[in-house]
Amino acid sequence: MNDRARLLSQTAALAADFLHGLPERPVRASATRDELLAALGGSLPERGEAPGEVVADLAHAADPGLVASAGPRYFGFVIGGGLPSALAADWLTSAWDQNGFAYVMSPAAAVTEEIAAGWLLEIFGLPANASVGFTTGVTMASFAGLAAGRHRILERAGWNVEEEGLAGAPEIAVVAGTEAHATIYASLQMLGLGRNRVLRVDADGQGRMRPDALRAALAGVRDRPVLVCAQSGNVNTGACDPLPEIVAAVRELPNAWLHVDGAFGLWAAAAPSLRHLVAGIEGADSWSTDGHKWLNVPYDSGIAIVRDPEAHRTAMSNSAAYYVAGAGAERDGGGFVGESSRRARAFPIYAALRELGREGLAELIERCCRLAARMADGLRDAPGVAILNDVVLNQVLVRFAPPGVADPTAIDADADAFTREVIAAVQADGTCWLGGTTWHEMAAMRISVSNWSTTEADAELSVAAIRHCRDGVAARWGAEAR
Ligand SMILES: Cc1ncc(COP(=O)(O)O)c(C=O)c1O
Repeated sequence: MNDRARLLSQTAALAADFLHGLPERPVRASATRDELLAALGGSLPERGEAPGEVVADLAHAADPGLVASAGPRYFGFVIGGGLPSALAADWLTSAWDQNGFAYVMSPAAAVTEEIAAGWLLEIFGLPANASVGFTTGVTMASFAGLAAGRHRILERAGWNVEEEGLAGAPEIAVVAGTEAHATIYASLQMLGLGRNRVLRVDADGQGRMRPDALRAALAGVRDRPVLVCAQSGNVNTGACDPLPEIVAAVRELPNAWLHVDGAFGLWAAAAPSLRHLVAGIEGADSWSTDGHKWLNVPYDSGIAIVRDPEAHRTAMSNSAAYYVAGAGAERDGGGFVGESSRRARAFPIYAALRELGREGLAELIERCCRLAARMADGLRDAPGVAILNDVVLNQVLVRFAPPGVADPTAIDADADAFTREVIAAVQADGTCWLGGTTWHEMAAMRISVSNWSTTEADAELSVAAIRHCRDGVAARWGAEAR
Protein backbone atom coordinates (compact mmCIF):
# COMPACT_ATOMS: atom_id res chain seq x y z
CA MET A 1 0.00 0.00 0.00
CA ASN A 2 1.43 3.40 -0.88
CA ASP A 3 1.31 6.42 1.43
CA ARG A 4 -1.83 7.86 -0.09
CA ALA A 5 -3.71 4.59 0.06
CA ARG A 6 -2.65 4.24 3.70
CA LEU A 7 -3.89 7.76 4.46
CA LEU A 8 -7.26 7.12 2.84
CA SER A 9 -7.66 3.83 4.73
CA GLN A 10 -6.74 5.56 7.97
CA THR A 11 -9.28 8.29 7.19
CA ALA A 12 -11.96 5.74 6.36
CA ALA A 13 -11.32 4.11 9.75
CA LEU A 14 -11.68 7.47 11.50
CA ALA A 15 -14.93 8.15 9.67
CA ALA A 16 -16.27 4.68 10.42
CA ASP A 17 -15.47 5.12 14.12
CA PHE A 18 -17.32 8.43 14.17
CA LEU A 19 -20.35 6.99 12.41
CA HIS A 20 -20.34 3.91 14.63
CA GLY A 21 -20.38 6.10 17.74
CA LEU A 22 -23.08 8.47 16.47
CA PRO A 23 -26.06 6.86 18.24
CA GLU A 24 -24.21 6.79 21.58
CA ARG A 25 -22.42 10.13 21.78
CA PRO A 26 -24.18 13.19 23.23
CA VAL A 27 -25.98 14.82 20.34
CA ARG A 28 -24.73 18.29 21.28
CA ALA A 29 -21.11 19.35 20.95
CA SER A 30 -19.17 19.13 24.20
CA ALA A 31 -16.34 21.62 23.65
CA THR A 32 -16.47 25.40 23.97
CA ARG A 33 -15.14 27.78 21.36
CA ASP A 34 -12.06 28.47 23.49
CA GLU A 35 -11.38 24.76 23.88
CA LEU A 36 -11.69 24.23 20.13
CA LEU A 37 -9.46 27.20 19.40
CA ALA A 38 -6.87 25.76 21.74
CA ALA A 39 -7.13 22.29 20.22
CA LEU A 40 -7.21 23.31 16.56
CA GLY A 41 -5.45 26.67 16.54
CA GLY A 42 -1.92 27.96 16.91
CA SER A 43 0.15 29.85 14.43
CA LEU A 44 0.31 28.96 10.75
CA PRO A 45 2.91 26.20 10.50
CA GLU A 46 6.14 27.33 8.88
CA ARG A 47 6.84 23.89 7.44
CA GLY A 48 4.44 21.33 6.10
CA GLU A 49 3.40 18.34 8.18
CA ALA A 50 2.83 14.70 7.30
CA PRO A 51 -0.69 14.22 5.84
CA GLY A 52 -1.44 11.31 8.17
CA GLU A 53 -0.63 13.41 11.23
CA VAL A 54 -2.65 16.37 9.96
CA VAL A 55 -5.73 14.21 9.44
CA ALA A 56 -5.37 12.28 12.72
CA ASP A 57 -4.90 15.53 14.67
CA LEU A 58 -7.84 17.18 12.92
CA ALA A 59 -10.14 14.27 13.69
CA HIS A 60 -9.04 14.19 17.32
CA ALA A 61 -9.22 17.94 17.92
CA ALA A 62 -12.49 18.52 16.05
CA ASP A 63 -14.33 15.61 17.64
CA PRO A 64 -15.62 17.36 20.80
CA GLY A 65 -16.86 20.23 18.63
CA LEU A 66 -18.85 17.97 16.34
CA VAL A 67 -22.62 17.79 16.62
CA ALA A 68 -24.21 14.40 15.99
CA SER A 69 -26.48 15.97 13.39
CA ALA A 70 -25.90 13.02 11.06
CA GLY A 71 -27.23 10.71 13.76
CA PRO A 72 -30.66 9.36 14.60
CA ARG A 73 -31.70 11.72 17.42
CA TYR A 74 -30.95 15.10 15.91
CA PHE A 75 -34.25 16.90 15.39
CA GLY A 76 -32.99 20.48 14.96
CA PHE A 77 -33.61 22.72 11.94
CA VAL A 78 -34.40 20.34 9.02
CA ILE A 79 -31.27 18.20 8.76
CA GLY A 80 -30.98 14.79 7.18
CA GLY A 81 -28.04 12.45 7.59
CA GLY A 82 -26.04 10.74 4.87
CA LEU A 83 -27.30 7.48 3.40
CA PRO A 84 -24.39 5.02 3.20
CA SER A 85 -24.07 5.04 -0.60
CA ALA A 86 -24.53 8.82 -0.75
CA LEU A 87 -21.76 9.33 1.77
CA ALA A 88 -19.47 6.95 -0.10
CA ALA A 89 -20.30 8.57 -3.45
CA ASP A 90 -19.53 11.93 -1.88
CA TRP A 91 -16.07 10.64 -0.95
CA LEU A 92 -15.57 9.48 -4.52
CA THR A 93 -16.68 12.92 -5.70
CA SER A 94 -13.80 14.40 -3.72
CA ALA A 95 -11.33 11.77 -4.87
CA TRP A 96 -12.33 12.21 -8.51
CA ASP A 97 -12.23 16.02 -8.05
CA GLN A 98 -14.21 16.68 -11.20
CA ASN A 99 -15.19 20.19 -12.14
CA GLY A 100 -18.93 20.00 -12.79
CA PHE A 101 -19.07 23.13 -14.90
CA ALA A 102 -18.96 21.59 -18.35
CA TYR A 103 -19.34 18.29 -20.13
CA VAL A 104 -15.82 18.52 -21.45
CA MET A 105 -14.46 18.71 -17.88
CA SER A 106 -16.25 15.54 -16.79
CA PRO A 107 -18.51 13.57 -19.08
CA ALA A 108 -19.31 11.25 -16.14
CA ALA A 109 -20.42 14.13 -13.92
CA ALA A 110 -22.51 15.63 -16.72
CA VAL A 111 -24.24 12.37 -17.61
CA THR A 112 -24.87 11.56 -13.94
CA GLU A 113 -26.50 14.98 -13.55
CA GLU A 114 -28.63 14.23 -16.59
CA ILE A 115 -29.78 10.89 -15.20
CA ALA A 116 -30.38 12.18 -11.66
CA ALA A 117 -32.32 15.13 -13.09
CA GLY A 118 -34.62 12.78 -15.01
CA TRP A 119 -35.22 10.60 -11.96
CA LEU A 120 -35.98 13.63 -9.77
CA LEU A 121 -38.51 15.01 -12.25
CA GLU A 122 -40.20 11.61 -12.32
CA ILE A 123 -40.28 11.38 -8.52
CA PHE A 124 -41.77 14.85 -8.12
CA GLY A 125 -44.18 14.43 -11.03
CA LEU A 126 -42.82 17.54 -12.76
CA PRO A 127 -42.61 18.11 -16.53
CA ALA A 128 -40.08 15.72 -18.08
CA ASN A 129 -38.53 18.52 -20.15
CA ALA A 130 -37.99 20.89 -17.21
CA SER A 131 -34.36 21.86 -16.58
CA VAL A 132 -32.56 20.93 -13.36
CA GLY A 133 -29.58 22.58 -11.69
CA PHE A 134 -27.59 21.10 -8.81
CA THR A 135 -26.86 23.84 -6.29
CA THR A 136 -25.42 24.20 -2.81
CA GLY A 137 -28.88 24.31 -1.24
CA VAL A 138 -32.34 25.76 -1.53
CA THR A 139 -31.17 29.33 -1.10
CA MET A 140 -29.30 29.13 -4.39
CA ALA A 141 -31.95 26.92 -5.98
CA SER A 142 -34.62 29.54 -5.23
CA PHE A 143 -32.23 32.16 -6.53
CA ALA A 144 -31.95 30.24 -9.81
CA GLY A 145 -35.72 29.65 -10.10
CA LEU A 146 -36.57 33.27 -9.33
CA ALA A 147 -33.84 34.52 -11.66
CA ALA A 148 -35.39 32.46 -14.46
CA GLY A 149 -38.76 33.98 -13.58
CA ARG A 150 -37.33 37.48 -13.50
CA HIS A 151 -35.87 36.87 -16.95
CA ARG A 152 -39.07 35.58 -18.50
CA ILE A 153 -41.56 38.11 -17.09
CA LEU A 154 -39.31 41.03 -17.97
CA GLU A 155 -38.62 39.62 -21.43
CA ARG A 156 -42.40 39.47 -21.99
CA ALA A 157 -42.54 43.10 -20.88
CA GLY A 158 -39.93 43.99 -23.52
CA TRP A 159 -36.90 44.18 -21.22
CA ASN A 160 -33.64 42.19 -21.27
CA VAL A 161 -32.62 42.10 -17.62
CA GLU A 162 -29.43 40.12 -18.18
CA GLU A 163 -28.14 42.80 -20.59
CA GLU A 164 -29.63 45.94 -19.08
CA GLY A 165 -29.97 45.20 -15.37
CA LEU A 166 -32.90 46.47 -13.35
CA ALA A 167 -32.38 50.24 -13.56
CA GLY A 168 -35.21 51.54 -15.76
CA ALA A 169 -36.84 48.09 -16.05
CA PRO A 170 -40.62 47.63 -15.83
CA GLU A 171 -41.48 47.33 -12.17
CA ILE A 172 -41.89 43.75 -10.99
CA ALA A 173 -44.45 42.96 -8.30
CA VAL A 174 -43.19 40.27 -5.92
CA VAL A 175 -45.83 38.43 -3.91
CA ALA A 176 -45.11 35.94 -1.12
CA GLY A 177 -46.93 34.38 1.81
CA THR A 178 -46.24 35.89 5.23
CA GLU A 179 -44.73 32.51 6.09
CA ALA A 180 -42.23 32.46 3.20
CA HIS A 181 -38.86 31.20 4.39
CA ALA A 182 -36.12 33.72 5.14
CA THR A 183 -34.09 32.41 2.21
CA ILE A 184 -36.75 33.52 -0.29
CA TYR A 185 -35.98 37.04 0.90
CA ALA A 186 -32.26 36.31 0.60
CA SER A 187 -32.80 35.28 -3.03
CA LEU A 188 -34.93 38.35 -3.77
CA GLN A 189 -32.29 40.54 -2.19
CA MET A 190 -29.58 39.04 -4.41
CA LEU A 191 -31.81 39.50 -7.46
CA GLY A 192 -32.17 43.22 -6.81
CA LEU A 193 -35.88 42.81 -6.08
CA GLY A 194 -35.62 43.97 -2.48
CA ARG A 195 -37.08 42.58 0.68
CA ASN A 196 -39.35 45.44 1.67
CA ARG A 197 -41.20 45.67 -1.62
CA VAL A 198 -42.65 42.16 -1.28
CA LEU A 199 -46.45 42.10 -1.05
CA ARG A 200 -47.12 39.74 1.83
CA VAL A 201 -50.14 37.50 1.66
CA ASP A 202 -51.82 36.35 4.86
CA ALA A 203 -51.50 32.75 5.96
CA ASP A 204 -53.94 30.53 7.82
CA GLY A 205 -53.41 29.08 11.30
CA GLN A 206 -51.00 26.41 9.99
CA GLY A 207 -48.96 28.86 7.91
CA ARG A 208 -50.52 28.11 4.51
CA MET A 209 -50.94 31.01 2.12
CA ARG A 210 -54.61 32.02 1.92
CA PRO A 211 -55.81 31.86 -1.70
CA ASP A 212 -58.46 34.57 -1.15
CA ALA A 213 -55.78 36.92 0.19
CA LEU A 214 -53.55 36.01 -2.76
CA ARG A 215 -56.30 36.88 -5.22
CA ALA A 216 -56.82 40.22 -3.47
CA ALA A 217 -53.09 40.99 -3.67
CA LEU A 218 -52.85 39.96 -7.33
CA ALA A 219 -55.86 42.10 -8.27
CA GLY A 220 -53.80 45.19 -7.46
CA VAL A 221 -50.81 44.23 -9.65
CA ARG A 222 -52.28 42.40 -12.62
CA ASP A 223 -50.92 44.95 -15.10
CA ARG A 224 -47.34 44.36 -13.94
CA PRO A 225 -44.88 41.50 -14.39
CA VAL A 226 -45.48 39.40 -11.26
CA LEU A 227 -43.36 36.88 -9.35
CA VAL A 228 -45.28 34.77 -6.84
CA CYS A 229 -43.46 32.71 -4.19
CA ALA A 230 -45.36 29.79 -2.66
CA GLN A 231 -44.15 27.10 -0.30
CA SER A 232 -44.48 23.36 0.19
CA GLY A 233 -43.40 22.61 3.74
CA ASN A 234 -43.50 25.37 6.32
CA VAL A 235 -40.27 25.23 8.32
CA ASN A 236 -42.24 25.29 11.59
CA THR A 237 -45.44 23.34 10.92
CA GLY A 238 -44.65 21.38 7.74
CA ALA A 239 -47.89 22.70 6.22
CA CYS A 240 -48.03 23.12 2.44
CA ASP A 241 -49.62 26.03 0.58
CA PRO A 242 -52.81 25.07 -1.34
CA LEU A 243 -51.29 24.88 -4.79
CA PRO A 244 -54.34 24.18 -6.94
CA GLU A 245 -55.94 27.47 -5.86
CA ILE A 246 -52.65 29.35 -6.02
CA VAL A 247 -51.85 28.06 -9.51
CA ALA A 248 -55.36 28.98 -10.71
CA ALA A 249 -55.05 32.53 -9.33
CA VAL A 250 -51.58 33.07 -10.84
CA ARG A 251 -52.63 31.70 -14.24
CA GLU A 252 -55.32 34.37 -14.53
CA LEU A 253 -52.61 37.03 -14.79
CA PRO A 254 -51.18 37.91 -18.20
CA ASN A 255 -47.53 37.91 -17.12
CA ALA A 256 -46.75 36.02 -13.93
CA TRP A 257 -44.32 33.34 -12.71
CA LEU A 258 -44.94 30.99 -9.80
CA HIS A 259 -42.02 29.65 -7.78
CA VAL A 260 -42.46 26.97 -5.11
CA ASP A 261 -39.97 26.60 -2.26
CA GLY A 262 -40.21 22.91 -1.45
CA ALA A 263 -36.96 22.61 0.51
CA PHE A 264 -38.21 19.53 2.28
CA GLY A 265 -41.96 19.49 1.54
CA LEU A 266 -41.51 18.68 -2.14
CA TRP A 267 -40.42 15.19 -1.09
CA ALA A 268 -44.01 14.53 0.00
CA ALA A 269 -44.56 13.98 -3.73
CA ALA A 270 -42.44 10.82 -3.46
CA ALA A 271 -44.77 9.16 -0.94
CA PRO A 272 -48.18 8.00 -2.16
CA SER A 273 -49.82 8.61 1.23
CA LEU A 274 -48.52 12.21 1.38
CA ARG A 275 -48.65 13.30 -2.22
CA HIS A 276 -52.00 15.01 -1.71
CA LEU A 277 -50.17 17.66 0.34
CA VAL A 278 -48.42 18.90 -2.82
CA ALA A 279 -51.27 18.30 -5.25
CA GLY A 280 -51.09 20.83 -8.08
CA ILE A 281 -47.31 21.22 -7.76
CA GLU A 282 -46.82 20.57 -11.48
CA GLY A 283 -48.69 23.79 -12.26
CA ALA A 284 -45.86 26.06 -11.04
CA ASP A 285 -43.00 27.47 -13.14
CA SER A 286 -40.03 26.74 -10.90
CA TRP A 287 -39.29 24.71 -7.81
CA SER A 288 -36.46 24.50 -5.28
CA THR A 289 -35.68 21.59 -3.01
CA ASP A 290 -32.80 20.07 -1.10
CA GLY A 291 -30.95 16.80 -1.35
CA HIS A 292 -29.20 17.43 1.97
CA LYS A 293 -32.44 17.47 3.93
CA TRP A 294 -34.87 14.65 3.30
CA LEU A 295 -33.03 12.72 0.62
CA ASN A 296 -30.25 12.28 3.19
CA VAL A 297 -27.38 13.24 0.93
CA PRO A 298 -24.36 14.75 2.75
CA TYR A 299 -24.03 18.54 2.74
CA ASP A 300 -24.28 20.36 0.49
CA SER A 301 -26.92 19.54 -2.07
CA GLY A 302 -29.77 21.63 -3.49
CA ILE A 303 -31.90 21.24 -6.60
CA ALA A 304 -33.34 23.98 -8.84
CA ILE A 305 -36.03 22.95 -11.33
CA VAL A 306 -37.44 25.22 -14.02
CA ARG A 307 -40.27 24.52 -16.43
CA ASP A 308 -38.76 26.87 -19.03
CA PRO A 309 -35.18 25.67 -19.71
CA GLU A 310 -34.42 28.59 -21.98
CA ALA A 311 -35.26 31.10 -19.24
CA HIS A 312 -33.25 29.03 -16.75
CA ARG A 313 -30.16 28.93 -18.94
CA THR A 314 -30.35 32.54 -19.99
CA ALA A 315 -30.60 33.68 -16.39
CA MET A 316 -27.78 31.48 -15.12
CA SER A 317 -25.18 30.87 -17.81
CA ASN A 318 -22.14 32.75 -18.98
CA SER A 319 -19.71 32.22 -21.82
CA ALA A 320 -16.14 32.98 -22.73
CA ALA A 321 -13.98 32.32 -25.75
CA TYR A 322 -12.09 29.49 -24.06
CA TYR A 323 -15.19 27.66 -22.76
CA VAL A 324 -15.97 24.55 -24.76
CA ALA A 325 -19.72 24.14 -24.76
CA GLY A 326 -21.26 20.70 -24.97
CA ALA A 327 -22.33 20.00 -28.52
CA GLY A 328 -25.93 18.93 -29.01
CA ALA A 329 -27.39 16.96 -26.12
CA GLU A 330 -24.30 17.15 -23.92
CA ARG A 331 -25.05 18.86 -20.63
CA ASP A 332 -23.00 21.71 -19.17
CA GLY A 333 -24.12 21.67 -15.53
CA GLY A 334 -22.79 25.14 -14.75
CA GLY A 335 -25.40 26.63 -17.05
CA PHE A 336 -28.18 26.05 -14.52
CA VAL A 337 -26.70 27.35 -11.28
CA GLY A 338 -24.93 30.66 -11.78
CA GLU A 339 -21.54 29.15 -10.96
CA SER A 340 -18.67 28.15 -13.14
CA SER A 341 -16.26 25.90 -11.24
CA ARG A 342 -18.33 23.66 -9.03
CA ARG A 343 -18.50 20.36 -7.19
CA ALA A 344 -20.00 17.44 -9.11
CA ARG A 345 -22.98 17.24 -6.77
CA ALA A 346 -25.10 14.73 -8.65
CA PHE A 347 -23.01 11.65 -7.77
CA PRO A 348 -24.35 11.34 -4.19
CA ILE A 349 -27.90 12.13 -5.34
CA TYR A 350 -27.64 9.40 -7.96
CA ALA A 351 -26.33 6.96 -5.35
CA ALA A 352 -29.05 7.83 -2.82
CA LEU A 353 -31.79 7.33 -5.39
CA ARG A 354 -30.39 3.96 -6.40
CA GLU A 355 -29.90 2.85 -2.81
CA LEU A 356 -33.49 3.74 -1.93
CA GLY A 357 -35.35 3.09 -5.13
CA ARG A 358 -38.84 4.50 -5.54
CA GLU A 359 -40.19 2.30 -2.75
CA GLY A 360 -37.39 3.01 -0.30
CA LEU A 361 -37.70 6.74 -0.81
CA ALA A 362 -41.45 6.65 -0.18
CA GLU A 363 -40.85 4.52 2.89
CA LEU A 364 -38.19 6.93 4.23
CA ILE A 365 -40.50 9.94 3.86
CA GLU A 366 -43.48 8.13 5.35
CA ARG A 367 -41.43 6.72 8.23
CA CYS A 368 -40.16 10.16 9.25
CA CYS A 369 -43.73 11.46 9.27
CA ARG A 370 -44.92 8.48 11.30
CA LEU A 371 -42.16 9.07 13.84
CA ALA A 372 -43.00 12.78 14.04
CA ALA A 373 -46.63 11.89 14.80
CA ARG A 374 -45.46 9.35 17.36
CA MET A 375 -43.30 11.92 19.12
CA ALA A 376 -46.22 14.36 19.17
CA ASP A 377 -48.44 11.65 20.68
CA GLY A 378 -45.78 10.80 23.23
CA LEU A 379 -45.59 14.39 24.42
CA ARG A 380 -49.14 15.60 24.17
CA ASP A 381 -50.33 14.03 27.45
CA ALA A 382 -47.44 15.37 29.57
CA PRO A 383 -48.54 18.01 32.09
CA GLY A 384 -48.92 21.48 30.58
CA VAL A 385 -47.95 20.41 27.04
CA ALA A 386 -49.65 21.44 23.81
CA ILE A 387 -48.82 20.42 20.27
CA LEU A 388 -49.32 23.66 18.36
CA ASN A 389 -49.51 22.35 14.79
CA ASP A 390 -51.40 19.73 12.88
CA VAL A 391 -48.67 17.14 12.40
CA VAL A 392 -49.16 16.56 8.68
CA LEU A 393 -45.53 16.01 7.73
CA ASN A 394 -42.28 15.65 9.70
CA GLN A 395 -42.48 18.80 11.84
CA VAL A 396 -43.84 19.12 15.40
CA LEU A 397 -44.23 22.29 17.46
CA VAL A 398 -44.43 21.77 21.21
CA ARG A 399 -45.25 24.33 23.85
CA PHE A 400 -44.84 23.87 27.59
CA ALA A 401 -46.72 25.74 30.32
CA PRO A 402 -45.17 25.96 33.81
CA PRO A 403 -47.01 24.71 36.86
CA GLY A 404 -49.70 27.27 37.62
CA VAL A 405 -50.34 28.27 34.00
CA ALA A 406 -53.40 26.33 32.92
CA ASP A 407 -53.38 26.83 29.16
CA PRO A 408 -50.15 26.17 27.25
CA THR A 409 -51.67 27.70 24.12
CA ALA A 410 -52.15 31.10 25.77
CA ILE A 411 -49.76 33.94 24.92
CA ASP A 412 -47.91 34.09 28.21
CA ALA A 413 -44.42 35.29 29.11
CA ASP A 414 -43.97 32.58 31.76
CA ALA A 415 -44.88 29.85 29.29
CA ASP A 416 -42.38 31.37 26.84
CA ALA A 417 -39.62 31.33 29.46
CA PHE A 418 -40.55 27.83 30.62
CA THR A 419 -40.58 26.47 27.07
CA ARG A 420 -37.15 27.98 26.40
CA GLU A 421 -35.81 26.44 29.60
CA VAL A 422 -37.11 23.03 28.62
CA ILE A 423 -35.44 23.37 25.21
CA ALA A 424 -32.14 24.39 26.85
CA ALA A 425 -32.41 21.46 29.29
CA VAL A 426 -32.97 18.99 26.43
CA GLN A 427 -30.01 20.40 24.52
CA ALA A 428 -27.78 20.11 27.59
CA ASP A 429 -29.00 16.59 28.37
CA GLY A 430 -27.63 15.37 25.04
CA THR A 431 -29.98 12.44 24.42
CA CYS A 432 -31.37 14.33 21.46
CA TRP A 433 -31.12 17.84 20.06
CA LEU A 434 -33.84 20.17 18.93
CA GLY A 435 -34.24 23.90 18.70
CA GLY A 436 -36.79 26.55 19.41
CA THR A 437 -38.90 28.95 17.43
CA THR A 438 -41.67 31.47 17.87
CA TRP A 439 -45.02 30.47 16.47
CA HIS A 440 -47.93 32.91 16.55
CA GLU A 441 -46.21 34.92 19.30
CA MET A 442 -45.54 31.83 21.40
CA ALA A 443 -42.15 30.28 22.11
CA ALA A 444 -42.18 26.68 20.95
CA MET A 445 -39.91 23.66 20.64
CA ARG A 446 -39.37 22.50 17.05
CA ILE A 447 -38.96 18.82 16.25
CA SER A 448 -38.01 17.85 12.71
CA VAL A 449 -37.68 14.16 11.88
CA SER A 450 -35.62 13.98 8.71
CA ASN A 451 -32.94 11.35 9.24
CA TRP A 452 -32.92 7.96 7.48
CA SER A 453 -31.52 6.22 10.57
CA THR A 454 -34.05 7.39 13.17
CA THR A 455 -35.94 4.45 14.64
CA GLU A 456 -38.99 4.07 16.83
CA ALA A 457 -36.63 3.41 19.73
CA ASP A 458 -34.91 6.76 19.05
CA ALA A 459 -38.27 8.51 19.02
CA GLU A 460 -39.24 6.86 22.31
CA LEU A 461 -35.91 7.60 23.97
CA SER A 462 -36.15 11.22 22.88
CA VAL A 463 -39.72 11.63 24.10
CA ALA A 464 -38.68 10.20 27.48
CA ALA A 465 -35.73 12.63 27.63
CA ILE A 466 -37.91 15.62 26.75
CA ARG A 467 -40.49 14.66 29.38
CA HIS A 468 -37.76 14.13 31.96
CA CYS A 469 -36.23 17.54 31.18
CA ARG A 470 -39.66 19.15 31.37
CA ASP A 471 -40.19 17.59 34.81
CA GLY A 472 -36.78 18.81 35.98
CA VAL A 473 -37.47 22.38 34.86
CA ALA A 474 -40.94 22.23 36.48
CA ALA A 475 -39.45 21.05 39.80
CA ARG A 476 -37.01 24.00 39.83
CA TRP A 477 -39.53 26.49 38.54
CA GLY A 478 -41.41 27.34 41.76
CA ALA A 479 -38.24 27.35 43.84
CA GLU A 480 -36.50 30.07 41.81
CA ALA A 481 -37.43 33.72 42.24
CA ARG A 482 -38.62 35.18 38.93
C1 LIG B 1 -38.87 25.97 3.59
C2 LIG B 1 -37.39 26.18 3.54
N1 LIG B 1 -36.87 26.93 2.55
C3 LIG B 1 -35.55 27.16 2.45
C4 LIG B 1 -34.66 26.62 3.35
C5 LIG B 1 -33.19 26.90 3.21
O1 LIG B 1 -32.55 25.81 2.63
P1 LIG B 1 -30.95 25.78 2.49
O2 LIG B 1 -30.42 25.88 3.88
O3 LIG B 1 -30.68 24.48 1.83
O4 LIG B 1 -30.54 26.94 1.66
C6 LIG B 1 -35.14 25.83 4.40
C7 LIG B 1 -34.23 25.27 5.41
O5 LIG B 1 -34.66 24.69 6.39
C8 LIG B 1 -36.55 25.59 4.47
O6 LIG B 1 -37.05 24.82 5.44
